[in-house]
Amino acid sequence: MAKILVTGGAGYIGSHTCVELLNAGHQVVVLDNLSNSSEESLNRVQALTGKTLDFIQGDIRRAEDLDQVFNTHQIDAVIHFAGLKAVGESQQIPLAYFDNNISGSISLTQAMQRAGVFNLVFSSSATVYDEANTSPLNETMPTAMPTNNYGYTKLIVEQLLEKLSLADPRWSIALLRYFNPVGAHKSGRIGEDPQGIPNNLMPYITQVAVGRREKLSIYGNDYDTVDGTGVRDYIHVVDLANAHLCALTNRLNATGCRAWNIGTGHGSSVLEVKNTFEQVNGVAITFEFAERRAGDVATSYADNSRAISELNWQPQYDLEDMLIDSWNWQKQNPKGYH
Ligand code: NAD
Ligand code: WQD
Repeated sequence: MAKILVTGGAGYIGSHTCVELLNAGHQVVVLDNLSNSSEESLNRVQALTGKTLDFIQGDIRRAEDLDQVFNTHQIDAVIHFAGLKAVGESQQIPLAYFDNNISGSISLTQAMQRAGVFNLVFSSSATVYDEANTSPLNETMPTAMPTNNYGYTKLIVEQLLEKLSLADPRWSIALLRYFNPVGAHKSGRIGEDPQGIPNNLMPYITQVAVGRREKLSIYGNDYDTVDGTGVRDYIHVVDLANAHLCALTNRLNATGCRAWNIGTGHGSSVLEVKNTFEQVNGVAITFEFAERRAGDVATSYADNSRAISELNWQPQYDLEDMLIDSWNWQKQNPKGYH
């Protein structure tokens, strides 16, 4: 069993990954500045698992914070979630994105090198693929500079990590390209808790369902898709969390840098998501069709065969599970962690 540093471990995907790590018998150290999360998520992770983890409130951009972690704990590997993730916001405040996501990742890898820790799993995104590719997207397809600053930071960090591993064979790095993470832990005790108005579809739907928002705007109904609305590959956050454990195992005896898509391999339209949510949860979602959202593509879903064959990973949950679990979390926690 290993001791894993989880940066951004108090956040949505990080907290679910902490549960799976603890359940698998690993020791967990979380470094998070709580800029987009609450320590309550970690209290609940510990209550759910009946195990303790170490939490340090600190910043990946601060060498002192990182050195304190590596000097206090014998870390075997790092799962790196910490960063900012709102596409729209990244256009307003690009420097904050460059600083947290790019400088933060450089500062983290510098500290890892000082401490002699070279195993890293990085949260990347399907947004790094060139929009000209046709789904299903596979890892050999070309990437391209995304038009938004958030996506830009993900591609830059992927490339930095690739170059780092080429220069120094001690590094073993997994780039996990997430598709659209949704859902929550079955217990409904941890889940996604966006600050302000949600940017993403799933939290928007659950906030309409719980009465916090009046209606869902569906961005575009004239795409070349099954019903005119955008198609995405939604992946249950617990399946995504488990992919990190599989990637850690893969990287233990490997060297170099390799990318894996983490999606179900199945695309669902916005209308299908809304309609299925209503069906499985028995809640009506008021909606209207609105203009297309700038920067959206019609269709994006994964070819996940590389992750299945190389990581010994397999998604367990389907869209209905994702929608039931998202609603279970929101219903039990109408105001999130607050
Ligand atoms: P999140 O905002 O819930 O979690 C990120 C965590 O990092 C938060 O707890 C935040 O407080 C912390 N953090 C931010 N900047 C930090 C810093 N400088 N130092 C220390 N901690 C810091 O987001 P999430 O949805 O859990 O996403 C986790 C990772 O996965 C992010 O890197 C994100 O870009 C990536 N990702 C997310 C999605 C998605 O749709 N949720 C898709 C693809 C990739
Ligand atoms: C899904 C579909 C929208 C909200 C984004 C980032 C990506 C990654 C995951 C982070 C699209 C439609 C949405 C709404 C809608 N992020 N929609 N009404 O855009 O695929 O991916 O999150 O790390 O980088 O770009 O996800 O959930 O925003 O949208 O109709 O209120 O739902 O147009 O078709 P997206 P999303």
